[in-house]
This record gives sequence, C-alpha cells and structure tokens, in this order.
Amino acid sequence: IEPIDPVRYISNHSTGKMGYAIAAELASRGAQVTLISGQTALDVPDGVQRVDVLSAQNMFDAFIERFESADGAVMCAAVADYTPADPSPVKIKKSDDEMVIRLKRTPDIAATAGATKGDKLLVGFALETDNELENAVGKLHRKKFDFIVLNSLADPGAGFATDTNKITIIGKDGLQHPYPLEQKSDAARHIV
Ligand code: C5P
Repeated sequence: IEPIDPVRYISNHSTGKMGYAIAAELASRGAQVTLISGQTALDVPDGVQRVDVLSAQNMFDAFIERFESADGAVMCAAVADYTPADPSPVKIKKSDDEMVIRLKRTPDIAATAGATKGDKLLVGFALETDNELENAVGKLHRKKFDFIVLNSLADPGAGFATDTNKITIIGKDGLQHPYPLEQKSDAARHIV
C-alpha cells in the first residue's frame, strides 16, 4: 500500500493467498521460509517467519536485507509500480477543485534480485489481463527469473481473492506447463 496522506492510500485487490499457500507448501517440505508480506488478514503458516511491510520501498528494504543469505526467492507479491511522489504529512482537506496526485516509480524488487541472483533460484509472477503469454515471457527474461507463473484475470476463478487459481508455468527454456483451475494450495504444490 502506498500512502497519499496519513489516512488514504493506493493499493490493489491482492489478498496474499497465493503467496501464503506457497510459503506453507515450502515449509511443509522442510524449507526455512521467510515471508515478506504486505497487509493481509491471513494467518502465518506453521513454521514460517513473517516480516510485515507496508509499501514497495519497505518490501524492497526487507528483501535486500535477507536475499543474500537465501537460496532463492519466490516473487509473488502484487507490488505497486508507482507511489505518491509527495505524500502529505497531514490529512488532505477537500476543496471544490479537481485533485492531482503525482506518482513516482517504486523500486523493482524482482529486477534487482535478478541482477544480483548468481545461482539462486528466482521465481516470478505475472498477473495479466491481455497479451498474457507475451507479457509473461517478457518479464521472465527482463527480470532474469528461472521460471514465471502466469495467471490471467480473464480466466474465471483465477487471480485476486479467490481460493482457486489457473496457472501456466513458463521456464526460461521456453517450455510452458499449463494447469487446470485448482485450489491455490494445489497450485502452490505444482510451483514448489
Ligand atoms: O511488471 P510486473 O509488476 O507485473 O511484474 C511482476 C513481477 O515483478 C512479480 O513477480 C512481482 O512480485 C514483481 N515486482 C517486484 N517489484 C515491483 C513490481 C513487481 O518485485 N516494484
């Protein structure tokens, strides 16, 4: 979430369910998991250490601190690409005029990870509404992911807030593995 003033913010519909399912699956297979999480009502899965963050910059800082000592990272968060350039320290009062909020870019956590990953395993996500495959393959190469998980808002039952998802895993070798609509816990098992 990206603050506009102490009361309002910009965000999106992500609930964190997919990320939490992956963290749970990794922990159940014996991995030591740190879950860097934005705001959500979800419970921390057993055996997982959660680090709470709010903004993209917070998540970037928390990630950089821990990535070096990790074997890999799954980048599942719906991170904001833009944030208000000058958040107000006090609640903005309404007036009769239109209002403009100037936005600046946030750091791209996955791209930074890709540039410094060495032989760590890096998994990315792409939630698309159009040109799904082309956009996902572009992200896979640009951010140097080993594989990317594509989900499309065009598929009923996939994406935000649902307990189900329909994923296609695309490897850096170009191979595509589509899965049927399934519980997020099953999608997590396939990803792990
Ligand atoms: O370009 P887009 O934001 O759709 O890329 C999606 C992938 O990049 C996801 O894996 C997401 O977690 C990651 N990402 C990031 N930092 C950002 C924006 C996206 O790590 N600022």
